[in-house]
Amino acid sequence: MDISDVQFTRKTILVTGATGFLAKIFVEKILRVQPNIKRLYLVVRASNPHVALQRLHSEIFGKKLFKIQKEKWSEKFSTFLSEKVVAVAGDVSLHNFGIKDQILIEEMLEEIDIIVHSAATTRLDERYDVAMATNTVGAYNVMNFAKMCSRIEVLLYVSTAYVSGEAELILEEGFHMGQTLKSPLKLDINLEKKLIEEKLSELKAQNVNERTITSIMKEFGTIRAHFHGWSNTYTFTKSMGEMLVTNMKGNLPLIITRPTMMIGTHSQPFPGWIEGVRTIDFVFVEYFKGALTSFVGHPKTTIDLIPADMVINSMIIALLVHSKSNSSNSLIYHIGTSLGNPIKLSDIQDIMHCYMTKEPWLKNSGKSGAFYEKFTFNPSYTEVHEFPQNKRSRLKRIINIYRPYLHFSGIFDDKNTEKLRMAIKGVGSVERKFNLDPKSIDWKDYLMNVHFPGLIKYSMQPKM
Ligand SMILES: NC(=O)c1ccc[n+]([C@@H]2O[C@H](COP(=O)([O-])OP(=O)(O)OC[C@H]3O[C@@H](n4cnc5c(N)ncnc54)[C@H](OP(=O)(O)O)[C@@H]3O)[C@@H](O)[C@H]2O)c1
Repeated sequence: MDISDVQFTRKTILVTGATGFLAKIFVEKILRVQPNIKRLYLVVRASNPHVALQRLHSEIFGKKLFKIQKEKWSEKFSTFLSEKVVAVAGDVSLHNFGIKDQILIEEMLEEIDIIVHSAATTRLDERYDVAMATNTVGAYNVMNFAKMCSRIEVLLYVSTAYVSGEAELILEEGFHMGQTLKSPLKLDINLEKKLIEEKLSELKAQNVNERTITSIMKEFGTIRAHFHGWSNTYTFTKSMGEMLVTNMKGNLPLIITRPTMMIGTHSQPFPGWIEGVRTIDFVFVEYFKGALTSFVGHPKTTIDLIPADMVINSMIIALLVHSKSNSSNSLIYHIGTSLGNPIKLSDIQDIMHCYMTKEPWLKNSGKSGAFYEKFTFNPSYTEVHEFPQNKRSRLKRIINIYRPYLHFSGIFDDKNTEKLRMAIKGVGSVERKFNLDPKSIDWKDYLMNVHFPGLIKYSMQPKM
């Protein structure tokens, strides 16, 4: 396939989850490399369009992530945005995103060429009812909406690599309806929804308070996930989302991207941008704060981390390849590093120590004073006494949530993503703009000089 340039000229793209970490980077990149796009509809949870617009400006375009664009457009930036971007107050758990404005819906249905569905609840132990509504029913609603769009070319559903459970080599294979990770068990999504409704009515009848409901519904999600073989509610409900979109797609081209654990940008729009403290970053942040010197995990574990801009680049090239191929097949893309450029927790320990030695100022910034032992991942870690009393139960919960990830022994095969890399190989301008090659990451250099400083600057410093 000849990809001489990346072109979404005059295309209209709808993006869900745009206030989130990943979709924000997608929006930035599309507007930067494709300013001649026709329109971006960004679905944002809000009570009305005015609030949606406010969120758009404060939580997306107001971020440092957009600094290159702001410099480029200068005072014309807001005009550019108002021409290209439409804030849609919407919720993916509702039919047609809950939009009441019929004129807006009709415009969207007529105009949209591409849908990127990134919205999700990413809390691993989310309430089962919330995770089901967002991750499973949300995917169903987005697919229904896509099928009503008259000129839709492709729907890209952002899933997660961890839907597949554990195997030595995890293939880029989809689910069939009713599949579980514990064959021969059968999964009935309608039954799961019914169980949730029954549980909620039961709790209501007992007149229990909201806090108790949250805690019981969280536990219920974990129980159902474990029952069917998934390690948590998040991956379980994302898997059900995959099943539904695959089952419903008909002739609609569907791309399912499955990133592993996303971390700060490798190079674009600039190195090191990150938002919040997610997955393994918790360990880095607590170590840098002087609060943690050990955590659960096996040093021999290959941990699959992927810079978020490489995920975005893979998504964009996948969209392009699909729109060029005119195929209605669906394809799954693992986007990670464990096959092409693996890094082990033992390497991470060493790099963390090196960083701490290189940045001695961090030693004195920690709340618990200046101690800096080498950090260790320990398979039988339970030493919550390292943490202050009031934070121990939170740490225990985090240990239980992360344990499967930090002992994970699978490697993610990425043959389909490799085809994307081949499609742009040698096309200088595209290859440079859309680096999706995990082999290009020098882990020590990236962690020491890009990710750790980015984490401190964007996620930690305001609190330090
Ligand atoms: N982070 C990772 O390491 C990782 C790894 C693999 C896959 N993924 C997948 O990548 C995608 C993006 O992840 P992320 O890290 O960017 O997540 P994130 O930062 O937690 O953002 C989630 C986004 O979804 C939105 N959202 C949640 N519920 C919604 C609803 N009912 N209606 C509309 N929007 C809703 C959130 O909106 P609000 O601002 O209103 O909350 C937010 O914009 C997700 O699908 C996730 O499963 C993430």
